[in-house]
Amino acid sequence: MLTPVEEIVANHPNHRRAAHAPEFVAGAGHLDGRVVPLAQTRVPVTDLGFMRADAVYDVVTVSRGQFFALAAHQERFARSCARMQLTNPLGSRDAETQALTDMVRATGLKDAYVWWCVTRGPNPALASDRLYPDRFENRFYGFVIPYVFIKGAADREAGINLWVSRDHIRIPPDAVDPRAKNFCSLDLAMSLFEAGENGANWSVLTDGHDALTESPGSNVFIVKDGRVLTPDLGCLEGITRKTALTLCAGLGLKVESTQVTVDMLKQADEAFLTSSAGGILPVAAVDGQRLAGGVGPVTTALHNLYWQRRWEGWQATPLDYREPDQA
Ligand SMILES: Cc1ncc(COP(=O)(O)O)c(C=O)c1O
Repeated sequence: MLTPVEEIVANHPNHRRAAHAPEFVAGAGHLDGRVVPLAQTRVPVTDLGFMRADAVYDVVTVSRGQFFALAAHQERFARSCARMQLTNPLGSRDAETQALTDMVRATGLKDAYVWWCVTRGPNPALASDRLYPDRFENRFYGFVIPYVFIKGAADREAGINLWVSRDHIRIPPDAVDPRAKNFCSLDLAMSLFEAGENGANWSVLTDGHDALTESPGSNVFIVKDGRVLTPDLGCLEGITRKTALTLCAGLGLKVESTQVTVDMLKQADEAFLTSSAGGILPVAAVDGQRLAGGVGPVTTALHNLYWQRRWEGWQATPLDYREPDQA
């Protein structure tokens, strides 16, 4: 049985929201160096992050008042910035940690979705300036909202029906490096509409040559004959992907990051998606055809272990919810 995560989050005292000002009930944002209520966040229309998807971002989550794998997310974010020649205007890892922490504390949320980005910044008036990354004024933005699951409890328990997109392939790594968590995602967004049209719950994209890459907001895994496989190329190095690989190894399962084809997915015993937005999401069918094992024992064990280990404090950075003047 899958651990009923939403039910625990809703009822367990360790998830009870801490004191917060009423204007922060929906969430918080970061604007010009200040923490503001979510509704007050703004992006100038000339910011190239908005105009041209010229930006990188990351998402870390909080549960039971603890960030999960914060250092891994911040390291990945720093690599994303470096790959796209962006500079975080906050200047240091500590300042970034402080910005993320301040937003969560303002909301009092014990279970939160924490998003932040650095954009190229305002479009310079001189077109020639666009040739030099150091002539841009990169901008930091962020927000915190209650924890988000890609799919709710009912879909997780039943397992989703995953659609292999025919109409879209994942942007190739030589076009935009998917290891940099970036804003270029219309391929993923359109594939979700295709999944919806075909009566599925979510989508997965290939590289155009039959190899699976990743899904919107998530990495894909298959389980076959006790081996756990996930694509090695064309995808984000998901932190939950890494976590799942570690948990699998701990369970004594053989894990491999390798080429995974559409046929391998369809012939799999089990399959699942991994994401910061919900952890492990079971897949019960592909293109409407049920997988042999359904929501099977490996997926169930990983799902439950993911939450158990998180709540025990694995890779945790606890937040201090006291008011700044009480700290
Ligand atoms: C395209 C894509 N792949 C994979 C993932 C999963 O990454 P993580 O486990 O770090 O959340 C995400 C997360 O948003 C994503 O956007």
